[in-house]
Amino acid sequence: MSKLTGSKKATQFTESVIREMTRLNHLYGGVNLSQGFPDFPAPAAIKDAACAAINADINQYAVTWGARPLREAVAREFTRRYGLPIVADEQVTVCCGSTEAMMSTMMAIIDPGDEVVIFEPFYENYGPDAILSGATPRYVTLHEPDWSFDPDELAAAFNDKTKAIIINTPNNPTGKVFSRVELETIAALCRKWDAVAISDEIYEHILYDGHTHIPIATIEGMAERTVTINGLSKTYSVTGWRVGWTISPRTLTGAIRKVHDFLTVGAPAPLQEAGAVALGLPDQYYLNLAAKYKRLRDMLLDILERHHFTCYKPYGAYYIMTDISGFGFSDDVEFARYLAKDVGVAGVPGSSFYKNSSNGKTKLRFCYCKREETLIEADRRLVKLAPVGAQLR
Ligand SMILES: Cc1ncc(COP(=O)(O)O)c(C=O)c1O
Repeated sequence: MSKLTGSKKATQFTESVIREMTRLNHLYGGVNLSQGFPDFPAPAAIKDAACAAINADINQYAVTWGARPLREAVAREFTRRYGLPIVADEQVTVCCGSTEAMMSTMMAIIDPGDEVVIFEPFYENYGPDAILSGATPRYVTLHEPDWSFDPDELAAAFNDKTKAIIINTPNNPTGKVFSRVELETIAALCRKWDAVAISDEIYEHILYDGHTHIPIATIEGMAERTVTINGLSKTYSVTGWRVGWTISPRTLTGAIRKVHDFLTVGAPAPLQEAGAVALGLPDQYYLNLAAKYKRLRDMLLDILERHHFTCYKPYGAYYIMTDISGFGFSDDVEFARYLAKDVGVAGVPGSSFYKNSSNGKTKLRFCYCKREETLIEADRRLVKLAPVGAQLR
């Protein structure tokens, strides 16, 4: 057999459906409500800081585990908000986005055969992350309509091979915000089975209707077994900057830093300087961000409901999961392609958030990290969506 083929690992997962939907949308010139990136500017103060850093010739490699001002800002803000002391030199590692932070963490702690518990539906990177790091994923369902998990189902997923659980709160794609009770249930299992919690908190500041963010690292006994992952992308509307980080217990930092070093050497140096400025923005910035996204959430909920989507209201992050079973298509991928090509609005097929794709075939995810005009244009185009049932074939 020819050796000019991809590795076994690379054949076990497909290309990202989310990024594919963005390409399809470009092809048909549609309104892109698929991939979660803003179409409005980033804050001027942080763009100025990035330009200033380049002009000040901060153009060479930063320290591999991150420029000191950013690491210190990450530690300072986590301690200020949540009361947990963090030592930048020993616990913070800056990576190329939280995507690399997750990958470096997984590769740093997983051995082949180790099991990793993943809630489903999941952010689609976690599946390939598990395969690339050699982990055996164990999926636990978040049950609609409120995306709660059954504590017994979660307990049954843990055993002495369990090395870690991946948590994402506020959650993509469901908009769920994990409650203290839920996090305590997870924490108790981590402590019982000596497992690590890898907590992706990239939507930390995007919360609605009085929901609050609780980092699992702050639950009793969890600081020493939690890797918290976050980044600039969503909070500061700079998904293309590729700056993220881990906050890890000292016992894991060395392994994460080694993997990170040999994967990427370091994140963009001038953008790390701008990141330190970003983290210093006043609290009002974060309140405004959440208020803006609440307005956009309510606007898109109204649009989608008027066009006959059944919506699961999100309480955090910036996505709406919808039920599309009423439209009469055979599956979500067919519907998503129809929507992108014939209607001119791109969403993400629900199956890309499930291991067993049939579990997502009645769902489609839309994002609303977009200008109001963009959502109004989507509304205008959705008028073309044939009436419910008309597409039955
Ligand atoms: C849950 C979650 N984690 C991570 C990422 C990627 O973050 P980054 O741009 O920092 O790599 C996303 C992007 O959509 C996400 O939704």
